[in-house]
Amino acid sequence: MNTLAHLFIFPLKQRIAILASGAGSNARGIIAHFKKSESIEIGLIVSNNREAGVLQIGKENQIPTFILTKDHFIESSAFLDELHKANISFIVLAGFLWRVPKSLVLAYPNAIVNIHPALLPKYGGKGMYGHFVHEAVHANNETESGITVHFVNEHYDEGNIIFQERVALDNTDTPLTIEQKVRALELEHYATVIENILNDRQ
Ligand code: GAR
Repeated sequence: MNTLAHLFIFPLKQRIAILASGAGSNARGIIAHFKKSESIEIGLIVSNNREAGVLQIGKENQIPTFILTKDHFIESSAFLDELHKANISFIVLAGFLWRVPKSLVLAYPNAIVNIHPALLPKYGGKGMYGHFVHEAVHANNETESGITVHFVNEHYDEGNIIFQERVALDNTDTPLTIEQKVRALELEHYATVIENILNDRQ
């Protein structure tokens, strides 16, 4: 079979790199969602933290992993080379704590997304991640929280918003129950939002 016929029968999949710094529950959900996809696959799991649970999840799913250093990320083209070698066309941040450098934003225009565990523009910016977000939401007696999926630019949590979903809070909620409610929304929606974006790009 020639290459053209092969491509027609087996079109190239869009390949995602997931960047994560922690346990990786979102990454696990996204991997499971695309496991049987004929058009999208997870090609690389990347972490800045050697101890991150997400690396184990990558290994369990036979997905190549890559440990990022500040030098790779900010000062050299090593990371971009790695992404190109793995044919990555889309980048998903899932609990990734470093700010994305402008060079990466320019190399992947409108092709990097992040999930934030609150309703941006509230509770975003440097230092606002994970439990810090839920503690702040609780301290302010908010009556709702939620999730925001947005395109990534070189500023923390400031790119165009793609999707939000809300959840009601009441005065019995604690930072922990807020986190649980928000986590449930993340696992319900993030992979589908990514799939919709990628299908629109085809
Ligand atoms: C998620 O709740 C994600 O929204 C949040 O970190 C958690 C990672 O959990 N991201 C941020 O706070 C980014 N500012 P996970 O590693 O289990 O997916």
